[in-house]
Amino acid sequence: MDKEKIKKEIEKLRKEIEYHNYRYYILADPVISDDEYDKLMKRLIELEEKYPEFKSPDSPTQKVGGGLISGFRSVPHSKPMLSLDNTYNEEEIKEFDKRVKKILNVSEVEYVCELKIDGVSVALRYNEGSLVMALSRGNGIEGDDITENVKKIKSIPLRLFKPLTIEVRGEIFMPVEEFEKYNIQREEEGLPPFANPRNAAAGTLRQLDSSIVAKRNLDSFIYYIVDPEKYNIKTQWEALNFLKELGLKVNPLSKLCNNIDCVIDYWKEMINQRTKLGYWVDGVVVKVNKFDYYSILGETAKSPRWAIAFKFPAIKAKTRLIDIELNVGRTGTITPVAILEPVNLEGTVVKRASLHNFDYIKEKDIKIGDYVYVEKAGGIIPQVVSVIKEMRNGTEKDILPPEKCPVCGGPVGKLNEGEVALRCLNPHCPQKLKRHLEIFVSRSAFDISGLGEKFIDKFVEAKIINDIGDIFYLTPFDLAQISGMGPKMIANILEQIEKAKKTPFHRVIVGLGIPMVGEKTAKILAEHFKNIDNLSKATFEELTSIEGIGPEVARSIIEYFKNEKTKEIIEKLKKAGVNLEYKETKKSDKLKGLTFVITGSLKNYTREEAKEIIEQLGGKVASTVSSKTDYLIVGENPGSKLEKAKQLGVKIINEEEFEKLIS
Ligand code: IVH
Repeated sequence: MDKEKIKKEIEKLRKEIEYHNYRYYILADPVISDDEYDKLMKRLIELEEKYPEFKSPDSPTQKVGGGLISGFRSVPHSKPMLSLDNTYNEEEIKEFDKRVKKILNVSEVEYVCELKIDGVSVALRYNEGSLVMALSRGNGIEGDDITENVKKIKSIPLRLFKPLTIEVRGEIFMPVEEFEKYNIQREEEGLPPFANPRNAAAGTLRQLDSSIVAKRNLDSFIYYIVDPEKYNIKTQWEALNFLKELGLKVNPLSKLCNNIDCVIDYWKEMINQRTKLGYWVDGVVVKVNKFDYYSILGETAKSPRWAIAFKFPAIKAKTRLIDIELNVGRTGTITPVAILEPVNLEGTVVKRASLHNFDYIKEKDIKIGDYVYVEKAGGIIPQVVSVIKEMRNGTEKDILPPEKCPVCGGPVGKLNEGEVALRCLNPHCPQKLKRHLEIFVSRSAFDISGLGEKFIDKFVEAKIINDIGDIFYLTPFDLAQISGMGPKMIANILEQIEKAKKTPFHRVIVGLGIPMVGEKTAKILAEHFKNIDNLSKATFEELTSIEGIGPEVARSIIEYFKNEKTKEIIEKLKKAGVNLEYKETKKSDKLKGLTFVITGSLKNYTREEAKEIIEQLGGKVASTVSSKTDYLIVGENPGSKLEKAKQLGVKIINEEEFEKLIS
């Protein structure tokens, strides 16, 4: 086909997709179905793959996928990114108005009221309409180059509707719904939840893998133009409209006011609306409308005199802490939660609030029976922020860290010195079972991919699986009890379980879930001790004499095997016929010094098997393609690694070529 025609088709597809992105992510008013959209995108990806000469950094295909970034370089801002002074009540905002009028020597001033979005600010540079750089605020003078990450945010267009060279600024934020979803996920992973959406947005933008940003649904509102006179824009109100015309997302709730009373009315109205917006706001930004006035008003070192933040009062209430409850998470973290006398916080009844950890309780001197202030952090998660000590009557009781795990009665402690979280140290605590099973069935252990997280949860809740050993005793009847499993799936899982009995010994060790023992340590242990009986009898001296095993790991291993439940589980594994011995494999240096990466699924090997083969032959397997990669092995349905390898000129081989290489 002639190239000119292809180029035209690509450009047409890009324009179409950009338009649909705009309808969907900015106007929230799509005009085609998801299927139709996917078709357009698929066709564009296909053409760009086939004709890489037409690839472009501002193509909508850049919004999907992603890859590793080596770090964030610092770049000077074109103009400092200032912050704002705050006001907290009607009196203070009236004073601001007076000050402005006095400096300008006028009797009336127009203001633009905008919501103050609780996110992180960003500067976006467009060159002839294409997004070329995104900078974080940094210290206001220099910011971090976060272009790759920002490109993944759906509401930030890679091309403007007009081919302008312009710098605009605005806020990137995490919508409430996404924030809550993300925090639940973090807690499940044993990570502390983010206190507010701003931290969550900032944390996401600092990721070194832009595909994470692509998945996390950050959003944006743009509100500022650098050097507006270049575009003949004379007021903030015009600026907001201009930004909209460029295809940028502008908050729809801004208002043009003739006087400060109108500003105060807007502020009051927004206080009522703030919890219903779907994104978190912490006030109103009041900006003088006319840009002519800005140079007269000037700015201090930190903030301009032509704008001010008019903050909302904290959503706060007074109530009594009647008890505490201890929650144990999937990784054993024990979190204290306050049980409160129910109190109304802006329309929701709050009965429980976060106390974070025991260091926090000590620092704030919180006791059971205390009257406390509860605030919604970032407006979302209620937390106890302070104690009203004057209201104590002497009957209050201290809150002490538990000596035993509230679920299993096991020992409690910190995993390492620096940690604030207290954990249950019993490796077999039922509360940790779901997480443990996830490791157990993972690729680096028994590789039973049919038993995903969803099923694990169901089996544990139905008490069909009570410890990891139970997996090998699952019957078709057990599996059928769990909804969503058909006969084919059952047969497949049982086959995988049968196969898993032959798992190499070091991966069995990974599956045992011994705290602090990962793949590398497991390999050392397997090679050294040869079988489970030797390993379970290992002494501290013997363990620490092995290179690569430190005293903390040694202690953890000994503790693990001392546990009665461990003995029971090992018996179960033995009886089920699980391989508990190290099998010497012939080693060679055939692939010595070579680094491989695998993408897509292979026909004859699981990834774990391929990895083992490569390692036995002296090679290494990495998870990402870089200039150090020697071979990319491509299976069916390869991912973005293939593209990266092509870009870097890495040698690409298929499964057959790989087999030749190792034969
Ligand atoms: S104007 C020169 N408008 O609040 C000041 N800022 O404390 C330019 N923010 O760093 C900022 N929403 O990150 C402006 N509608 C809005 C805003 C807003 C949120 C943030 C921004 C800024 C901080 C000021």
